Amino acid sequence: MIATEHLIEVTYLIATALFVLSLKWLSSPVTARHGVWAGEAGMLLAVAGTLLHQGIVDYKLIAIGLVLGTIIGVPLGRVAMTAVPQRTALSHAFGALCVTLVGTSEFYLRAPNVPGLMMGVLSLEVILGALTFTGSLMAAGKLQEVLRQRPITYKGQNFVNLGLLAIAIGIAAILVLHPEKMYLFPFMIGIPLVFGVMMIIPIGGADMPTVISLLNSYAGLSAAAMGFVLQSKLLIIAGALDGASGFILSVNMSKAMNRSFTNVLFGAFGQEQATVAGAKEARPVRSASPEEAAGILTAASKVVIVPGYGMAVAQAQHKVRELYDALTKRGVDVKFGIHPVAGRMPGHMNVLLAEADIPYDKLLAMDEINGDFPQTDVALVIGANDVTNPAAREDTSSPIYGMPILDVDKAHTVMVIKRSMGAGFAGIENPLYYLDKTLMLFGDAKNFVGAIVREISGGHN
Ligand code: TAP
Repeated sequence: MIATEHLIEVTYLIATALFVLSLKWLSSPVTARHGVWAGEAGMLLAVAGTLLHQGIVDYKLIAIGLVLGTIIGVPLGRVAMTAVPQRTALSHAFGALCVTLVGTSEFYLRAPNVPGLMMGVLSLEVILGALTFTGSLMAAGKLQEVLRQRPITYKGQNFVNLGLLAIAIGIAAILVLHPEKMYLFPFMIGIPLVFGVMMIIPIGGADMPTVISLLNSYAGLSAAAMGFVLQSKLLIIAGALDGASGFILSVNMSKAMNRSFTNVLFGAFGQEQATVAGAKEARPVRSASPEEAAGILTAASKVVIVPGYGMAVAQAQHKVRELYDALTKRGVDVKFGIHPVAGRMPGHMNVLLAEADIPYDKLLAMDEINGDFPQTDVALVIGANDVTNPAAREDTSSPIYGMPILDVDKAHTVMVIKRSMGAGFAGIENPLYYLDKTLMLFGDAKNFVGAIVREISGGHN
């Protein structure tokens, strides 16, 4: 008995260490794979340790849960990389639902004799769990475009939302003082469920990744609260790690977009999309063929490739690798400029380019590469838009004014691969495309890069 208890403690200790190492390793592309393995091994140990608990009287239901979880989880793990943000949101929704259900059962097992402190933590657990559940479902729906991406706003919205949250907290306070008022408990879950939906309605699709990361943090905090209720140190630590890392990530993402947290949550960003994108008049741009693009690239000595969301959609990373090889073989110095919010999730471009085996040392972060653009012969933008928009630097009226960008417009020549003059995720026009030095390469990123590679390699590819 005591030996099993010790075994469980040791298992949890190792799991905790693996979680910490996982976060550390995930912070660099070089060690990221180890990070994933460490996280998975930690979770496996945590589950195995939990299954050893003496308190478990019947394994049948657990086995059914494991089978169901596997059936749902395996296909979820096979989604396209561009769908990872909404898939992550679904995971948060499941986690938060689980936390809410555990909290509910703990309440009804103990009520009406719930000590004040315990009731307080339990309330935090179910309020955060419930709002994260519906909030994450809404976020996943918006990203998957099952729901309208555009923010829905109405007068007094923030007041209504904060009012709902205040009522839920008020109920929690009453239950802390009077746990015998058990009829209030369902309201303490129902109101945050509604709040979760209302909270996401005014947030535009472009801000969803930041919101998902914030919901991740809420899910972690609710799990930590559940750890206090269940007296599980492992849950407290894992929940706190999740809560803190999710919060730091949201802050970093907001910083990279030069947006304050409150602006992301209450700013209804993305509303201008229809008006600005719709009002643009046709202005002349210069375009070029793959053959011309190949000529310019091979004549260059320094090229910086700037990938964005379009490269991910087109799955062009392997063709980009071929282009990198073809140019480097001809003595061209090729580097990659990576914007922290290029694509739709943190590290999106790094993951794709790593998948195509582009050397890590050729991937330079925004601050490292920006000084190089004035000495760069060609900046080749592949499916990126907002992260290269000079309006963010120059136009104080632009919705993205102040967002740090990759200064591609400072290169001698700019070439932009995209399918049309369509806007990026912020829904605004990009003055970069109308510069004399810019050549538009209209087409799908994978096809166009493939065509350039064929031209460079003399049709042999
Ligand atoms: P976007 O500004 O969204 O632009 C992507 C461009 O790719 C579009 O203009 C589109 O133009 C083009 N495109 C789409 N499919 C293509 C294809 N098959 N082939 C070629 N081009 C294609 O992307 P970005 O520059 O990477 O910026 C990311 C945006 O997401 C920013 O606004 C950022 O703030 C936001 N955001 C990102 C994150 C993270 S963490 N990454 C988080 C929150 C928000 P066409 O339709 O003309 O082809």
